[in-house]
Amino acid sequence: MTIQGTSPTMQRPPASGAFSGTAPLSVARLTLSDFRCYAFQRLECGPEPVVLSGPNGSGKTNLLEALSFLVPGRGLRQTPLGDPARSGGRGGWAVAAHLRTPSGGVDVGTGIERLPDGRDRRLVRIDGAPARGQAALAQVVSAVWLTPQMDRLFQDGPAGRRRFLDRLVFGFDPAHAGRLSAYEHALRERVRLLREQAGGRPADPAWLDGLEATLAERGIAIAAVRRDMVERLNDACALAAGPFPKADLAALGDVEDWLAGGPALDAEERLRTALADSRRADAETGGTRTGPHRSDLRVRHAAKNLDAARCSTGEQKALLIAVVLADARMRALERGAAPLLLLDEVGAHLDETRRHALFDEIVALGAQAWLTGTDPRLFAPLAGRARFFHVEDGVAAPEERGR
Ligand SMILES: Nc1ncnc2c1ncn2[C@@H]1O[C@H](COP(=O)(O)OP(=O)(O)OP(=O)(O)O)[C@@H](O)[C@H]1O
Ligand SMILES: [Mg+2]
Repeated sequence: MTIQGTSPTMQRPPASGAFSGTAPLSVARLTLSDFRCYAFQRLECGPEPVVLSGPNGSGKTNLLEALSFLVPGRGLRQTPLGDPARSGGRGGWAVAAHLRTPSGGVDVGTGIERLPDGRDRRLVRIDGAPARGQAALAQVVSAVWLTPQMDRLFQDGPAGRRRFLDRLVFGFDPAHAGRLSAYEHALRERVRLLREQAGGRPADPAWLDGLEATLAERGIAIAAVRRDMVERLNDACALAAGPFPKADLAALGDVEDWLAGGPALDAEERLRTALADSRRADAETGGTRTGPHRSDLRVRHAAKNLDAARCSTGEQKALLIAVVLADARMRALERGAAPLLLLDEVGAHLDETRRHALFDEIVALGAQAWLTGTDPRLFAPLAGRARFFHVEDGVAAPEERGR
């Protein structure tokens, strides 16, 4: 199975050296309203990488989080929708950006409105027109992030690793976001029906059959695209040079095994049967035993032949960076644009050689990376190649240095 929309344009990223000034995907202007500590903030950016430095609690991560809402999902903090609304503000929040993309300038806006019943609803606008859902964002912009919380990605449960892989997939297959949300919606509906049934209200069997058919079809498509992505990442990681370790990835789970063992249609049928057979057990647990929502992403340090979870903290960080860079390189080559890279405190665990190599690679890729840190000296090698902002008390102001 091939990922939709991957027709290679073979537009090469600029060779390493000074920034070419032509990052094909970049934020030209970012506006935050009532977003966490920001009452109102506007940043004007060139296509080059952006460095945000400032003391603890000044608002650096909040800016990256605002950018992370420009792609489908719940942002890099994975908080409830209303959480970023500034305390003391009007109750909602908004993030807007003017983007440079390979197909021209695009205005993207997102935020929430509070409904009369107290619930929050996410709004998305693209070029001024309301979009039907967040999935539409994946058509326009892609972003990948690494945060200090992800230092535990390999220790914690599989949900974070699945989300990490899915975000990488969004960049190659924008339809993946819509497929995932349809799958998750069907999962919730099925559980609701099964619980009602267990409570004595029989569910319409045709309705359950229909939901399970949707789950099987979407579920296998999700697993197949993830498997495809993992293969591509492995190829890209194997070709990488430089000080970052080569990562060896695998998508693991029942559906992945079925896909590896035979045609996708057979896997779909097996998933449909497994769902039908587990109705009673699923009604009891309120979950769903089988499907790609249970899959995992395994990452190994190739040279050491060691599971990432057993590597040192710095090695784990370096492995994650290696994967993100491999993805960005592949996208720059195949799609003509590397994703926005939101790198929160990445310098913290990297030695100097790796830190400098990371900066050089970002510049060579022509990626607009957003880098944060409390110590601006860590970013000195980027002087003249990045735009620097000082962040303090919820205000980000351009620094003259390095511009
Ligand atoms: N909803 C909110 N309303 C107002 N302020 C908030 C809200 N959520 C978080 N904040 C505040 O935003 C401030 C900045 O947080 P942020 O995580 O961006 O800091 P930071 O610059 O990344 O700091 P560090 O260097 O410690 O990581 C914090 O002091 C936090 O209390
Ligand atoms: Mg922070």
